[in-house]
Amino acid sequence: MSHHYLRFEQVGYRYPDGHEALHDVSFELTHGEKAALVGANGAGKTTLLLHADGLLLPTTGQVVVGGIPITRRTLPTIRRTVGYLFQQPDDQLFMPTVEEDVAFGPANMGLDDAEIERRVAEALASVGATELRHRAPGRLSGGEKKRVAIATVLAMEPSILVMDEPTASLDPPARRQLFELIRTFRHTMLIATHDVELIRELCTRTLVLHRGTLVADGPTQEVLAAGEIG
Ligand SMILES: Nc1ncnc2c1ncn2[C@@H]1O[C@H](COP(=O)(O)OP(=O)(O)OP(=O)(O)O)[C@@H](O)[C@H]1O
Ligand SMILES: [Mg+2]
Repeated sequence: MSHHYLRFEQVGYRYPDGHEALHDVSFELTHGEKAALVGANGAGKTTLLLHADGLLLPTTGQVVVGGIPITRRTLPTIRRTVGYLFQQPDDQLFMPTVEEDVAFGPANMGLDDAEIERRVAEALASVGATELRHRAPGRLSGGEKKRVAIATVLAMEPSILVMDEPTASLDPPARRQLFELIRTFRHTMLIATHDVELIRELCTRTLVLHRGTLVADGPTQEVLAAGEIG
């Protein structure tokens, strides 16, 4: 299905203060590919991911999702296709209760109450957060927040999933549960991570960023063997 592909075409991005965070980045992920995005702190991983959902628009080049170039005009369509997990859960959670946060996206899509309920229940169960349903997101622990943030993204049932450090702050059982979830997710994924096990076990392809430039892109085994990461 063509709407599952994600293509960066010579993307450059300069922050308003003049810092060039991405330089001439090109790659394409096709249907069902699970790719890791790695690189040192400050390499530009988050900046790159923000471009995959139109949260930042390129200074030069363009990003295309399933044949649709990301522009201000196409953003509503793009947001339905691409699910984005923020590095900081606090950027994702803003409603008074967990269930309202998870229901927010589906409700915005105009789904009926029964479908919203199905999605909320399923998404919370899949991250082991059912018992957090009536809690206030602001009062959860870091790992609990992370699980709920993942649930808000899953409830949208996106075709492409973009995740920024998804395993950070998860305890070992929650991390394992996320691994299994990622394993069963059939769609396209781009995951920024420092978690070498996650990369080895689940990502068939690895992209390496160094100071805003893509310096390696290939099968994970080869990229690992070349000593590009851990
Ligand atoms: N709002 C901003 N204004 C100016 N520069 C920024 C801004 N946000 C990030 N940067 C800079 O852009 C570069 C890339 O940052 P980014 O957050 O994309 O890195 P990262 O690879 O995600 O790092 P980490 O592993 O720490 O999450 C860094 O040098 C950072 O200081
Ligand atoms: Mg980051």
